[in-house]
Amino acid sequence: MAVIGRDARLGIKEEMIEKLPSLACALGLLTSPLAADGAQRGQILFERHCATCHGMDLSGQGPMWGVLMIKPTDLVGLTEREGDFPLDPVITRTDGQDPFVRHGSPMPVYGPFFERLVQKVGLPDGREMQTGITLLDIVAYLQAHQR
Ligand code: HEC
Repeated sequence: MAVIGRDARLGIKEEMIEKLPSLACALGLLTSPLAADGAQRGQILFERHCATCHGMDLSGQGPMWGVLMIKPTDLVGLTEREGDFPLDPVITRTDGQDPFVRHGSPMPVYGPFFERLVQKVGLPDGREMQTGITLLDIVAYLQAHQR
C-alpha cells in the first residue's frame, strides 16, 4: 500500500511517465482519488510550512505579509497569470533547482527539506524533471486550488 501511495502522489507512476510524458496526462490523472489524497497531504504541509507567508487561502497575504519587503506570490492566481499551471517553475522555485531564485527573497529553499524520496515528473514539452515526492503533494494541492 505504502508503495502505491508513494508512486501515485501526482497520479503518475514511473512506468506511466515513460508512456505518457505530458502534463496534460498528468493533469488528467490529478482528478484520480489517489491524487486527491496527495493534494490532501499537500494541504497539511502547505499550512504548516508555507501559509505563514502565502496565507491559509494561498492569496499571498499570510501573517508575515506586512513585514516582508518582497511580497509573497498569490498562489491561487498562477494558472491565470501564466495561462497554464506553471509546473516546472513552481517545482524549481520551491525546491531550489531554479538557478535564478530571486536574490533577497525571504522564501527559503525547500529542496533538502522535502527531498527524502525523489520522483520523476513529465513536463508538457516532453522533458522530465525530478523532485521530492513530498513537494509534489504540495504542488498537487496548489494545482487543485487555482481559481
Ligand atoms: C518566509 C516567507 C515564505 C515562505 C515560508 C514560503 N514562501 Fe513562497 N514566496 C515567498 C515570497 C516573498 C515570494 C515572491 C518572491 C520569490 O519568488 O522569491 C514567494 C514565491 C513563491 C513561488 C513563486 C510563484 C511564482 O511563480 O511567482 C512559489 C511557487 C512559492 N513561493 C511556493 C511556496 C511554497 C510551496 C512554500 C512552502 C513549502 C513557500 N512558498 C513558503 C515567501 C515565502
